[in-house]
Amino acid sequence: MLRDPSLSHSPYVSLMELLASSRLSGVVVSQALLLEDPAEEALGYDRLSEANFRRIASLISGKVGIKLPNAKRLMVEGRLRKRMRTLGHPSLTAYCRFLFDQNGLATELVHVIDAVTTNKTDFFREPEHFKVLENKLLPSLLARRPRGGRPRLKFWSAASSNGAEAYTIAMVMANLAEQTKAFDFAVLGTDISTRILAAADLAVYPAEMVVPVPPEFQERYLMRGRSPSHTRDVRMVPELRRRVQFRKLNLMDDRYSIDRDVDVIFLRNVLIYFEKATQEAVVRRLMGHLRPGGFIILGHSESMIGTNMSLRQWAPGVFQYDA
Ligand SMILES: C[S@@+](CC[C@H](N)C(=O)[O-])C[C@H]1O[C@@H](n2cnc3c(N)ncnc32)[C@H](O)[C@@H]1O
Repeated sequence: MLRDPSLSHSPYVSLMELLASSRLSGVVVSQALLLEDPAEEALGYDRLSEANFRRIASLISGKVGIKLPNAKRLMVEGRLRKRMRTLGHPSLTAYCRFLFDQNGLATELVHVIDAVTTNKTDFFREPEHFKVLENKLLPSLLARRPRGGRPRLKFWSAASSNGAEAYTIAMVMANLAEQTKAFDFAVLGTDISTRILAAADLAVYPAEMVVPVPPEFQERYLMRGRSPSHTRDVRMVPELRRRVQFRKLNLMDDRYSIDRDVDVIFLRNVLIYFEKATQEAVVRRLMGHLRPGGFIILGHSESMIGTNMSLRQWAPGVFQYDA
């Protein structure tokens, strides 16, 4: 077989050779490529070894609950490689040596967590939840409060990412509070990722991201960037920012130092990353922070999780805690 000598150290050549010279199935070959190769580092083949991947996966699942199956290995490698380059380590193996053998984790854990968390979010994501909130949950919450007062409703976005979910709640509630004068509100956003919380605190978003925000809300609650470098950015108006706060919180913690009279908790699109037992434990812990009659809202792909607990389902993914 003819081959380009410049490729002689490439893993792709060995894959082709394997395919050409053996009767191994594609599946077996792809597994073979994931096995630890002692010559990996010497060949400049910058992958995480099997052992290092397992150490990272078990660290992450123990600290933040996120499962990292083998299918996530390429993603983890890509993200850690960026961090490794920032610190000037020559390879992932060297970065892992620093993490695990030279006490690097003491300062790096926060960056490893930032690297492996998936922060995908949107304004008005799963928009039916905001309709249910307005038309069903809000009337139910207000009906339980003494007449004549102006209660302060509490909302918690419990895996808030960059704040798009918390600010969607804030826009919807600010609009209704203004129309009805029947309540005031506050929104808390919490997340494990330090990097994403810094973005949430800024409340600045690229213009493309706010496309799902209805035009009348854009008009009232978003400010356009003035400086030439920020004309494509928008920022939430100060009246809204005053009502939304962000804090670091790990859902894996045994207890949360959060009020126990929250009206609605949004816990969307985070449980999918956890093992079943962790999912249930987190939902049960969060229920302890709801006021009786309060609601917990899960993402659509997670909406089955609440059905086997003593929660009353009001809509897909929307559950009432009736203590
Ligand atoms: C995919 S985003 C979901 C954002 C938002 N809830 C939504 O539905 O658009 C998942 C978020 O969960 C956070 N997260 C993952 N594990 C966590 C944990 N153990 N504690 C708190 N937040 C966590 C991630 O950092 C990420 O920002």
